[in-house]
Amino acid sequence: MSARPPQRIKTMCGITGYVGTKSASEVVIHGLKTLEYRGYDSAGVAAFVNGRIGVVKAVGKVANVEKRIAELGTLNGATCGIGHTRWATHGAPSDKNSHPHGTDKVRIVHNGIIENYAPLREMLVSKGFTFESETDTEVAAKLIEYHYDNCKNHEDALISAMRDIIGSYAIAVMFSDCPETIFAIRKDNPLIIGVGKNENFVASDITAVLEYTNTYYQLGDFELAIVTRDSVKMMDMKKNAVEHPLLTATWSVEAASRGGYDHFMIKEINEEPEAVRKTLHPRIRNLLPNFEEENLSDERLKNAKSVTFVACGTAMHAGLVGKTAIEQLCRVPVKVEIASEFRYNNPILTEDDLVVVISQSGETADSLAALRLAKEKGAYTLGIVNVIGSTIAREADNVIYTWAGPEISVASTKAYTVQISLIYLLTIKMAYLKGKISESEAKEYTRILYEDMPEIIKATIAREDEIHEAAKSFCAYSNLFFIGRGIDYHLAMEGSLKLKEISYIHSEAYAAGELKHGTISLITPEMPVIALATQEDLYEKMISNIREVKARGARVMLIAREGAKDAANEAEKVIFLPRCDQFFNAIPLATVLQMLAYFIAKELGREIDQPRNLAKSVTVE
Ligand code: G6P
Repeated sequence: MSARPPQRIKTMCGITGYVGTKSASEVVIHGLKTLEYRGYDSAGVAAFVNGRIGVVKAVGKVANVEKRIAELGTLNGATCGIGHTRWATHGAPSDKNSHPHGTDKVRIVHNGIIENYAPLREMLVSKGFTFESETDTEVAAKLIEYHYDNCKNHEDALISAMRDIIGSYAIAVMFSDCPETIFAIRKDNPLIIGVGKNENFVASDITAVLEYTNTYYQLGDFELAIVTRDSVKMMDMKKNAVEHPLLTATWSVEAASRGGYDHFMIKEINEEPEAVRKTLHPRIRNLLPNFEEENLSDERLKNAKSVTFVACGTAMHAGLVGKTAIEQLCRVPVKVEIASEFRYNNPILTEDDLVVVISQSGETADSLAALRLAKEKGAYTLGIVNVIGSTIAREADNVIYTWAGPEISVASTKAYTVQISLIYLLTIKMAYLKGKISESEAKEYTRILYEDMPEIIKATIAREDEIHEAAKSFCAYSNLFFIGRGIDYHLAMEGSLKLKEISYIHSEAYAAGELKHGTISLITPEMPVIALATQEDLYEKMISNIREVKARGARVMLIAREGAKDAANEAEKVIFLPRCDQFFNAIPLATVLQMLAYFIAKELGREIDQPRNLAKSVTVE
């Protein structure tokens, strides 16, 4: 039988597992529903019933599986089970390809990719194994069974499988001769062990089990967990016991639900003022930024010769804001690198360089690889991460958590706003330590950020109707331009990304002064322009650029500081930012751009929280 390419599975897939006294299928289905926001196309559950492992799976929504479970009744009474939501980016979703996979002996659910699945499959075929799906996951299931047949020991079988597999995985396993037990292994893919009273859980995301418990362990790479109702054992590949700290999620069940809003995205935008306050508050002492709790020494910041931000997507755009802020206030050179490019560019780094890896999830494969490379090169690494105990948080030399709470919508909003707020705070600290600003200046900047900013963001959100109106009159186009200068150009990139992600309207973010060197040829009455002009010293230049595009027939929406001269005469629509020190204008501007993208996507009837082809956390290269 010739091997076919594996289904490329991003980690939108979700895993949940339960062992305790409750109905396993109900708990697992509940967990899968919580993970639904990640997007998926099929789902399935396996559970122990009367000494056997029963399986129910189906294409489509978790509700289909739930219905089938109720109709069949075959999982009734089970108190230990595993479940999965699968989202294939290529190849047809089908009952056969959905998880759990395996045979009556061994059943598994898997997130990630088994890169060497083809030779493994060939080897297994030569040993007499047959395959019914095209997935790499079935190969992993049969591989575990093969090793188990040989060694008759569950742990050894899983360790041998880990030795054989090349790729990334989080796998939950049930052996039919070991009832009421879930085994789990992982490499480069998130997997947590939720710890309850007389019940324990496995899951790819703490939100899946928050209803039942908020304490959990993060399993490490190449580790194995054996989870029963009243015990959790973790070990390494040599079967040495490993201990991980028992973490507590500060996220509430409410935080992970929509709470009356139409979409998570708009709910999360509305959470920005509080998220900024929560993130900055613990880092301010005597009205000055203070990172003692994080053990981030003053020397480290003071002596940093350069700063490199490495990240992906929106988090990378947060780095761009950091570049402008740090270079302006601290006069330290800053580079911003796309994580997926970083490691192939042989970066020049020394011990005096600070590498800041920004990541909401803390699990993005490209960012993690960049972090590891930076460490190898001897640079000091700092993570700015939202998920406690995530891989980037654990592996960076130091981590500053953003307390944004769970971000469910795929398009990142509050995480970005909090990231840039935190980077501003770091900037103030660094500038003060380097003697670039006085103590009173540092205190005033800190005060604005901490005291004024949450109110400024609130005032921005209150302009909802105005932003919605602007969105309505600019939503009927296939293409759009965002233009800006300086930091506004960096925000243009983020505004454009947000719009592309959720509305599917193509847009370009362009440095306004660069338009005339080629791209202005695209400007016609069919190409509206969103001009960002929040910086006083660049305002007149921006007005010239706006006139350039208007002269070619473009309709213009302008986002500017309150009181910007003659703004209403220069553009068809103007959205003013609430009054704010212009150094921090990026923060309310981000909120406006997020809302603009949201309302445009809403007008177009898009699936805002789960845009096509995108994953919230991308743990594959
Ligand atoms: C994915 C998401 C983006 C996100 C990026 C980085 O591509 O769709 O919204 O900005 O990953 O994610 P991270 O979790 O590292 O911030």
